[in-house]
Amino acid sequence: MKVIRVSDYAELSRKAADLIAEEIREKPDCVLGLATGSTPEGTYKQLVAEYEAGKLDFSRVRTVNLDEYRGLPGSHPQSYRYFMDTHLFSRININKKNTFIPDGLAPEKEECEEYEKRILSLGGIDLQLLGLGRNGHIGFNEPGTSFIMETHPVKLTSSTIQANARLFNDPEEVPRRAVTMGIGTIMSAREILLIVNGEDKAEALQKALYGPVTPSCPASILQDHPALTVIADEEAFREIQACGS
Ligand code: F6R
Repeated sequence: MKVIRVSDYAELSRKAADLIAEEIREKPDCVLGLATGSTPEGTYKQLVAEYEAGKLDFSRVRTVNLDEYRGLPGSHPQSYRYFMDTHLFSRININKKNTFIPDGLAPEKEECEEYEKRILSLGGIDLQLLGLGRNGHIGFNEPGTSFIMETHPVKLTSSTIQANARLFNDPEEVPRRAVTMGIGTIMSAREILLIVNGEDKAEALQKALYGPVTPSCPASILQDHPALTVIADEEAFREIQACGS
């Protein structure tokens, strides 16, 4: 595991974007696994800036996203498809046909099987970007999820529903279900980049990196990945400093 400690969110975003840009330059048709949420927003902004400066070409890049809410069409402002289009895809020269996100309206079981086949047909994921949930989740793999799962439907926990309610007009609107890549799918990526910022993630980060590898902290399995890079800011490192790990 390579751990990169940065002072703040701006530096985290720059460093994460640099690593993704390096992957694209080395392999112009790479398959990027992408995440939504607050953490990667700055990274995507940096990637857009690199593209606008003429330093990055996305024309052959393929992407697969981690997850999508059930029941929201891609046109819904809180769907993950909408998030990716507005923060990244519509602002760079990627071919939208090469961007894949689970379809929140398709029949659940079939969609999960199709998504897993899609990833295989692309040749697997070269670099998977991950954020970290406060309860240690990755994707929508909540505590207790088996480490060998492939893409599957999930019922969201109340803590995740609560955390995501800030983005909806009415907390009642937050979908209760989602489709997510499984931990098995995530672990099959050739490289993983975990980005974490803020004090509210400090406990989860400590458990993920230095706690026991256990389904009660889904991200702890990342300790077993052969090519994991973690970029986290000082605030997220607070618990790790405190216990001297
Ligand atoms: C998003 C995802 C989630 C988030 C996590 C952290 O596609 O899969 O696991 O990465 O909930 O979210 P933020 O970055 O909003 O704190």
